[in-house]
Amino acid sequence: MSETVLGILASGRGSNMQAICNSIDVGEIHAKVGLVISDKANAKVLEHAEAKGIPTVCIERRNFASKQDFEAAIAQQLTLYNVKLVVLAGFMRILSKYFVNLFPGSIMNIHPSLLPAFPGLNAHEQALAYGAKVSGCTIHFVDEGMDTGPIIMQQAVTILADDTVESLSERILAVEHELYPKAIRLYCDQLLCIEGRNVKIISNK
Ligand code: GAR
Repeated sequence: MSETVLGILASGRGSNMQAICNSIDVGEIHAKVGLVISDKANAKVLEHAEAKGIPTVCIERRNFASKQDFEAAIAQQLTLYNVKLVVLAGFMRILSKYFVNLFPGSIMNIHPSLLPAFPGLNAHEQALAYGAKVSGCTIHFVDEGMDTGPIIMQQAVTILADDTVESLSERILAVEHELYPKAIRLYCDQLLCIEGRNVKIISNK
């Protein structure tokens, strides 16, 4: 089986991008990162990718007349690098139906809560404000909704009585760094099958 080419989209710090790269480096994922795209020129993720010799592109929304033009520019780069799986790793934008249809069943996202609870921005803050006792993270395929696509994997993290946004984010992030590479590995090994809202993990292959 040939290496799957990943295209990572990220807006910020890039710790998930680094966790994915580390898993590739130690041979856990049979893939390579073709390029990293950010919508923020000063995003740390670009520096981390450059340090690893990964091609980077910054595509900012404000340089395009419409959302579709912006997304078309992203898609053009992904196609240029022959990307097969689009990995959203802290990409803080909702992708439209137009973009999602260009990569059917081939866009993944990570979200720091147990979806469908606490979608969108500030998931940790939402969980604490709600008084939830458990949160966690979710890896899912992307559809045109906000954090609504078919769920691939989830892992729970207990919320402690004295948790702050910082302490909860830190514990969930450690789980994210374990879970995202696992989900990507399953995709690259062709062990994921989407049946409606259900993602099945094929175990007898
Ligand atoms: C991660 O916690 C990820 O789950 C979250 O952004 C952070 C990015 O961190 N994503 C979302 O909230 C998406 N709605 P990173 O840049 O260090 O990987």
